[in-house]
Amino acid sequence: MSYQNLIIQNKNSIAQVTINREKALNALNADLLKEIRDCFSELSQNREVRVVIITGAGDKAFVAGADIAAMSQMNASQAKEFGGLGHQAMDAIDHCAKPVIAAVNGFCLGGGMELALSCDFIYASEKAKLGLPEVNLGLFPGWGGTQRLARLIGKGRAKEIIFSAKVLTAQEAFTFGIVNKVCPPESLLSDVKTVAAEICKKGPVAVSLAKQSINKGFDLELAEGLRQEREAFPRCFETEDLKEGLKAFLEKRPAKFEGR
Ligand code: CAA
Repeated sequence: MSYQNLIIQNKNSIAQVTINREKALNALNADLLKEIRDCFSELSQNREVRVVIITGAGDKAFVAGADIAAMSQMNASQAKEFGGLGHQAMDAIDHCAKPVIAAVNGFCLGGGMELALSCDFIYASEKAKLGLPEVNLGLFPGWGGTQRLARLIGKGRAKEIIFSAKVLTAQEAFTFGIVNKVCPPESLLSDVKTVAAEICKKGPVAVSLAKQSINKGFDLELAEGLRQEREAFPRCFETEDLKEGLKAFLEKRPAKFEGR
């Protein structure tokens, strides 16, 4: 599939998705949201891809939020549709069968922060600025920000950030546990590719099941989360990868996983 606002590069089992609307600081309009939704559904099924990286075009912004000019023309029912599209795009990332890493290279605001929070984890450039400043506009975060940020860092800290529209430096976001690593701008992508390459060497089905298990279990009571983990665990024993992984260990050589 080809996309107007996304650049997709596949190399060594890593897909890099670049949001390419630099003139508007990669702000997300309806067309972009549909492309993100479709692209991540496709990557989820793509057997050539083991890890996905998402970043923004240019050196100024990851994504500066939902498209404010487009929202200025919307009534409540159009906003409901736009909000629904935002959720579809974020869910496509969250539910993608492959790990998705956000490489946050600049402004990561509003819908951009919600997009990053839908990824499995975030690396950020030292220059990045992250926040949910929607209340400055008379809006509140509507693409999962109220839910995903509170689950990640706790209700009190999420409320302070959202109510005050506080924009965090990358270092502050690291301290809060939003960002896993702060990188010099020039090495951000290579640092993300290094961790992606490490993940690519692991059993792909096992990594995917681990992602599903963590995500599903997070919203459940512990006993229920443990139950769903117990049910998913034996599925590894139906894979060629597990046979290869165990054999390689016993033969003292690196495993060569095929993802089946
Ligand atoms: N939507 C549409 N266009 C945007 C945009 C956005 N979210 N953010 C920036 N742009 C556009 C600007 O309008 C400008 O376009 P023109 O050159 O045509 O005027 C261009 O990108 C460059 O932006 P600035 O001139 O403003 O650049 P700056 O360096 O002075 O400031 C910034 C950068 C601080 C990120 C500033 O652009 C800004 O505050 N942007 C809006 C951030 C924001 O409020 N995001 C939340 C949006 S609401 C949301 O996301 C709702 C939701 O939860 C779903």
